[in-house]
Amino acid sequence: MKEIKVGMIGSGFIARVHCQALATLPGVRVTAQCSPNEQRRLAFVKELGISESYPDHRQLLAEAGVDVVVVATPNHLHAPMALDVISAGKHVIMEKPLCLTLDQADQIIDAARRQGVLVAYAEELCFVPKYLRAKELADAGAVGQVYRVNQVEKHEGPYSPWFWQTRQAGGGILMDMGCHSIEFARWFLGKPPVRAVTAWMDTVLHGDKTEMEDDVIVLLEFATGQTALLESSWALLGGMDSITHVFGTAGVIHADLLKGMGLQVYSQPGYGEYAPATRGWSYPDYEWSWQNGYPQEDAHFIECIRTGTQPAESADDGRAVLEIMLACYASAASGRRIELPYRPPPVAAPVEIWLQSRRGAAGGK
Ligand SMILES: NC(=O)c1ccc[n+]([C@@H]2O[C@H](COP(=O)([O-])OP(=O)(O)OC[C@H]3O[C@@H](n4cnc5c(N)ncnc54)[C@H](O)[C@@H]3O)[C@@H](O)[C@H]2O)c1
Repeated sequence: MKEIKVGMIGSGFIARVHCQALATLPGVRVTAQCSPNEQRRLAFVKELGISESYPDHRQLLAEAGVDVVVVATPNHLHAPMALDVISAGKHVIMEKPLCLTLDQADQIIDAARRQGVLVAYAEELCFVPKYLRAKELADAGAVGQVYRVNQVEKHEGPYSPWFWQTRQAGGGILMDMGCHSIEFARWFLGKPPVRAVTAWMDTVLHGDKTEMEDDVIVLLEFATGQTALLESSWALLGGMDSITHVFGTAGVIHADLLKGMGLQVYSQPGYGEYAPATRGWSYPDYEWSWQNGYPQEDAHFIECIRTGTQPAESADDGRAVLEIMLACYASAASGRRIELPYRPPPVAAPVEIWLQSRRGAAGGK
């Protein structure tokens, strides 16, 4: 079996998750990494045993001799980096969201087709063992005809400053966590076309840090008549929620990914490196990476590279999610239901569609 060499762009949270996940796969090795801060880069490669380190991704692409590259950088860098990786003839694993505009998504899809390389869209919820089992049960008819999927992704807000910045993130909680729920619902229902989108959003907790939305409710109407009700928030205190309810004509499935099967601990002093945050009730995880589907997602993509098959989660899925998110911003801006296909006005960041109407409303008061 030929060894597959991986290049990692980024040395932050999700870059580390991918490196650890890839290290569990036979015949796969992360051999090169790049990120701009030298001190953090060198500490990262030392910790993870990566032999080559570069300050710039173009240098990595030119010199490292890798087969596949993971783009694990702030959102506004996804499209330009993906296009550089593809034009260097490498396969690419794209972190979510795929990119910030539909034009960029089309360029990524077209470039990959022309170069004959694969693009994976890293939506790990479609590889979560608990959610896979829920889908298996639903697909086997255990709850009758599924008419609705509810999905919740919430926590108390991100850790890196760029997440709060419009230009770098492209959007708030919708672009950060809402994209997970949207792809989850599409995947769970077998990816039927979305017919219409209705969304509400506001900035309920973090207005001191960002002008973008931190709380969102989305209703998706599928061409099949099924619906998805999705809630995403950066305003949840008390730990993260990833929760799914599947409603069918003959039953229901409840799946609480993080707390349902987790440990339940009550601790007066708190424990571990997050001691203050773990006082009182907490739900410490175990086998976190596997429970969240990260090694399985990377394993699937490596298998696609070996066999030359299209990944189950591809750039087309990332594009579909982006179009839905753009329609969500338009719906929240106008207070109306938006039918798909949706073509947005020319904005640099998706959230601008909503922010412009919000600023207009504030100016008109
Ligand atoms: N799938 C998931 O569960 C998940 C979880 C977290 C983040 N993400 C996504 O992953 C991406 C990265 O998020 P994160 O949480 O790791 O952020 P982070 O802030 O922890 O890390 C970002 C990294 O990008 C690097 N970077 C910035 N500019 C760069 C450049 N020009 N060249 C190379 N590296 C550069 C930084 O040095 C840093 O290492 C985002 O798109 C985010 O949406 C996905």
